[in-house]
Parts: sequence; structure tokens; C-alpha cells
Amino acid sequence: MKEKAKIAVLVSGGGTNLQAIIDAEKSGLLKSGTVALVLSNKKDAYALVRAEKAGIETVVVERGDRATFEDRIVKELEKRSIDLVVLAGFMVILSKSFTDRFPNRILNVHPSLIPSFCGEGFYGLKVHEAALAKGVKVTGATVHFVNEIPDGGTIVMQKAVEVKEGDTPEVLQRRVMEEAEWKILPAACELVSKKITEEKK
Ligand code: GAR
Repeated sequence: MKEKAKIAVLVSGGGTNLQAIIDAEKSGLLKSGTVALVLSNKKDAYALVRAEKAGIETVVVERGDRATFEDRIVKELEKRSIDLVVLAGFMVILSKSFTDRFPNRILNVHPSLIPSFCGEGFYGLKVHEAALAKGVKVTGATVHFVNEIPDGGTIVMQKAVEVKEGDTPEVLQRRVMEEAEWKILPAACELVSKKITEEKK
């Protein structure tokens, strides 16, 4: 059997996207990669509980000085020979020196159709608030590779989601997660993991 790509999922909060990846691995949808590590910059992130329940190793790296923060993350990834880094609600903008270490090996999920409502300052609920304020009728989610430009790397997958009359940011966020994020993020993990395992052969 081919060796699976080793995935590290970086989180800061609730971890529903992490859960979608864990579930995809269980169901066999994600078969070319395995979640080997969940790393959080917040020690009370519920995502850590989800990881522990699934028997996945966890580590907390709290923010301090930016350079050492990123160095500490890199050490944790290298220690476990991680092949693919997945940002799943990781509310930190990574520097060029970090992203340059993993070209086309860092995925991020963003809750809009990039290039709309993205970049610095657009994260979490703020994205949906901006979409509703603009009055767009369609929004969605994007999975993209991460480079030094916030939300600026190559797009891997996108899925559109309808905005409905009377939506609140919370209602829209939930629909975008259910209909788009939780589908395209695991699918993108499989796509990139497969490529990595083929390159390893
Ligand atoms: C998700 O909607 C994700 O797309 C968003 O934060 C939420 C995290 O939820 N990420 C960003 O806005 C990044 N710019 P989760 O912790 O339940 O996966």
C-alpha cells in the first residue's frame, strides 16, 4: 500500500472544518492522506477536543513574538515529517518566510468566493456581514493554496451558496459551512494528498 500523506490541521476555534476532515478520513473519502497532528494557537479551542476524541495528537503553540511563534510551528511540523498543512479556521496570517517553506503544501479554507470579501480583516463572521451588507445574492467558499498574500494563493476549489432573504450573518455562515466548506475542504485535502503520494513514489 502507498504511504499516506501526513496532514497537520492548524486551528484556532470550534473546528467544524477539522471535524469534516476527520469524518472524511473515517468514511474513506479522504484516503490518500491522514491527519497526523492538530495544532492550535489557542489552548481552549474546541477543535482540540474534537482531535482528542478522534485519537489525533494535539499540540498548542501560543502566539508570542511572531518569528519564534512561526519557528515553533515549523519545528512541530518537521518533527512529524508533515507533508500537507491545512488551515481550518486558523486565525493567523503567516509570513512569507513561513509560506515559502511549504510551496503548494498549505491549504486554507475561506468562507467567500475569492476574490470577494477576502484579505486582511476578512475572517469568520465578518466575511458574511460584509457579503450581506453588499447585498450579494450568491456567496460561497474557497479552498486555496497559501502564499504570503492573505487569501491570495492559487485557488484549488470553490463552491457557490445562495444568499436567502432575511439571512443573518450567523445563518449564512452555517449554510456556507454546510453546503460548501465541509465539502470542498476534505475534497481538496484528498486531491492534494493524492498528488503528494504520487510524487513520493
Ligand atoms: C470557517 O468558516 C472558516 O472558513 C473561517 O473561520 C471559520 C472557522 O470555523 N476562516 C476564515 O475566515 C479564515 N480567513 P471552524 O473552526 O468551525 O472550522
